[in-house]
Amino acid sequence: MTEQTLFIVKPDAVDRSLVGAVISRFEQKGFKLLKLKMFTFSQQQAEKFYDVHKDKPFFGELTSFITSGPVVAAIIEGNNAVATTRIMIGATKSFEAAPGSIRGDFGLGFSENIIHASDSQESFDHESRVAFE
Ligand code: CMP
Repeated sequence: MTEQTLFIVKPDAVDRSLVGAVISRFEQKGFKLLKLKMFTFSQQQAEKFYDVHKDKPFFGELTSFITSGPVVAAIIEGNNAVATTRIMIGATKSFEAAPGSIRGDFGLGFSENIIHASDSQESFDHESRVAFE
């Protein structure tokens, strides 16, 4: 079923000039790029974006990192976009992510883990509204 999802190339990946490599993965897979935006999260925008994690002990670390430099947000479209994108990005802990996944191939971090992607239709609706506001 054709769906849309959102991913964010995080500040560590932008800093390491991996934007093209990350976006290419999705183009090569067959997804269509619908929207692309480079920007830096404000503190308020980051807190809204990651609202679901606001009571977690790592919330401060998370918002501090995501606001630390520019990111690239993308909305893509294709078959089974939400779940397939989650498979493509790999496990949250990059150092455990499978080789072949984006985190598995490009990083070693946990908080600094290259890419974020929406994990459900509801997250996509919320996150795309915040990122493209
Ligand atoms: P992301 O997919 O952007 O969703 C929430 C982020 O929180 C996650 O990737 C990690 O970067 C980060 N995260 C999750 N758990 C922890 C943790 N225990 N410590 C630090 N960062 C975390």
